[in-house]
Amino acid sequence: MGARILGIASAVPSTVVTNHDLERLVDTSDEWITTRTGIKERRHLKKGEDCSDMVAQAASQAIERAGLTPADIDVMIVGTATPDTVFPSTACWAQPKVGLGTIPVLDISAACSGFLYGYQLADSLIASGRARHVLVVGAEALSRVMNWHDRTTCVLFGDGAGAAVIGPGDHEKDGLLASSWGADGRLASLLWQPAGGTRHPATEATVAEQMHTVHMAGNEVFKHAVRAMKQAVGEVLEQAGLTNGEIDLFVPHQANVRIIKATADRARVPMEKTYLVIHKYGNVSAASIPMALADAYEEGRLERGDLVLSASFGAGFTWAATLYRW
Ligand code: ACO
Repeated sequence: MGARILGIASAVPSTVVTNHDLERLVDTSDEWITTRTGIKERRHLKKGEDCSDMVAQAASQAIERAGLTPADIDVMIVGTATPDTVFPSTACWAQPKVGLGTIPVLDISAACSGFLYGYQLADSLIASGRARHVLVVGAEALSRVMNWHDRTTCVLFGDGAGAAVIGPGDHEKDGLLASSWGADGRLASLLWQPAGGTRHPATEATVAEQMHTVHMAGNEVFKHAVRAMKQAVGEVLEQAGLTNGEIDLFVPHQANVRIIKATADRARVPMEKTYLVIHKYGNVSAASIPMALADAYEEGRLERGDLVLSASFGAGFTWAATLYRW
């Protein structure tokens, strides 16, 4: 029996940053950003607000929507590439804010695949009997690791969190039907934050050289993203013995509308069935799929029993796909 999403919610900071706002910062235009990425605006945290604050807000609402209380949660997994601190985990900072007592909580570092990796781990914990309800959260404070002089990256990313309460499905064909995940660390330096870990501790030079910000070979990432997500989507459909025509909603990672269109096209899922939020949130890495699911849920686009496909790709490189009954 697959694990299903019992409650979903998101949280975003109140500050909206439009493409026109960024035109005042770097040599860019609303037209370039819109046509190359599909992004119109994104959210940025205010000073004093943390990634864990968004985790707590999204998680609390997801628990409420699942009809549960914090006492019903057994484990919390937070997927993030932009933790409050290197240690302890963002999950530890968020735990008391949600009122989760002393349950085990942890971060996973799988960049944009953090939520789908977390869903698959939650499914295993539930199947093995180690947990009944697992909170899986994707949360990012990417505005904090941007190089505000680099127009090729700073226009792309945003802040936000999405949380799902995962619990046992009601019957054999419920919840997670098929999943796939992978990684290729040989390509790690195509998308990374060079300093901030222990390889390059902070020095005046690492700060001056912008080594604490996102560095990305955009074109390379683009090619690998389409290829990996298309393959992962094929794998889950084959595992489940289902066809593309049966999918009710495709909720992919939202990095670039051109990547999403190319993936949907190659997976033969029509754009009418592909859910987009990239125009209003930008790329929120691990948060993008649960945030999109929360918006789709609030808009009434998800009904119990719908077949939902998700696919992700991110730094590492990591990738994943899941096929699940809502
Ligand atoms: N405004 C105006 N011009 C720009 C901007 C900008 N913001 N950014 C780049 N340009 C220019 C470039 O300098 C270049 O100019 P040149 O031809 O004079 O050299 C031109 O636009 C074209 O640049 P490309 O990099 O070829 O543009 P492309 O169409 O590939 O789009 C982009 C770039 C949006 C980054 C795209 O490659 C992309 O989306 N890549 C994937 C990103 C992604 O998926 N990340 C994944 C996960 S994120 C994570 O894991 C945390």
